[in-house]
Amino acid sequence: MPLDLCTGCVTVPGTLCVWRFSLAVPARVCALYEQLLDGDELARRLAFRHPQRRQEFVVARGSLRRLLANRLGTDAAALRFATGAHGKPCLVAGCSDTDCHFNLSHSNGQALLGLWNGAEIGIDIQYHRPSTDCGRLAQRFFTRAEAALLAGLAPARQQAGFYRLWVRKEAVLKCLGQGLGYGLRRIDVGQSLDRRGCFQVDTEAGPVTLLDLDTHTAYSAAVAVRGALQHDPPAIQQLAWEHGCRRCFVLS
Ligand SMILES: CC(C)(COP(=O)(O)OP(=O)(O)OC[C@H]1O[C@@H](n2cnc3c(N)ncnc32)[C@H](O)[C@@H]1OP(=O)(O)O)[C@@H](O)C(=O)NCCC(=O)NCCS
Repeated sequence: MPLDLCTGCVTVPGTLCVWRFSLAVPARVCALYEQLLDGDELARRLAFRHPQRRQEFVVARGSLRRLLANRLGTDAAALRFATGAHGKPCLVAGCSDTDCHFNLSHSNGQALLGLWNGAEIGIDIQYHRPSTDCGRLAQRFFTRAEAALLAGLAPARQQAGFYRLWVRKEAVLKCLGQGLGYGLRRIDVGQSLDRRGCFQVDTEAGPVTLLDLDTHTAYSAAVAVRGALQHDPPAIQQLAWEHGCRRCFVLS
């Protein structure tokens, strides 16, 4: 059956689950996703002028519904969402298990969906745009200490270092349900810049546990969940969603 998950793709309760998927799909698959969307989503879809952006929105929201419904054992089209003050979607109480938190991110045709029970989650993926002026953006958006750390990296590692810091900050912002207007300098994520890390970030809204994610070449990604870092980092399950061709892959 189209858009079905294979039985090997059951997510493990208690783990931080991260699905990755491509937003490039054949038109017939996009049409199937479109059938899952509600009136608000269909209206938002129309606001995208560029056909590719429109399709990416449909595939991202359709996949979100499909994967959430699988986790919750419910109908993907029946899920109802509310939106926070800065645009963060969440499940509406009464229509489903609102203890299940999720967050979606997409960049340059790739998407990540994070699922976590019991506390807010934020996720971010960013494509490494070759034209990015990392030094200038770091001066503008990073703390002095972060910008100095970045400047201390070998030139060949600066782009990856810049994006690692950027996705960490956005993952924390998104976990808190804030937008970029909150101020990236208010979030300090400069720890273990030279390697994939898991550490606690103390924000004005309380502690957040941050994890760098392995993802595709030329992309960086991070995920953040509300709460202090426990003795052990949260167990993480990474899966690849292949849009219902009855294949999915457990990545870790
Ligand atoms: C949240 C934000 C930093 C994400 O930017 P981005 O890197 O371009 O986008 P990403 O692909 O990582 O994430 C987008 C997804 O995150 C979710 N999202 C949207 N706003 C969010 C927020 N404030 N916090 C967490 N998640 C959010 C949505 O699912 C969105 O996907 P969708 O539009 O397809 O539904 C940016 O959109 C922002 O600053 N938003 C705030 C705008 C605001 O304050 N609006 C106020 C009126 S609503």
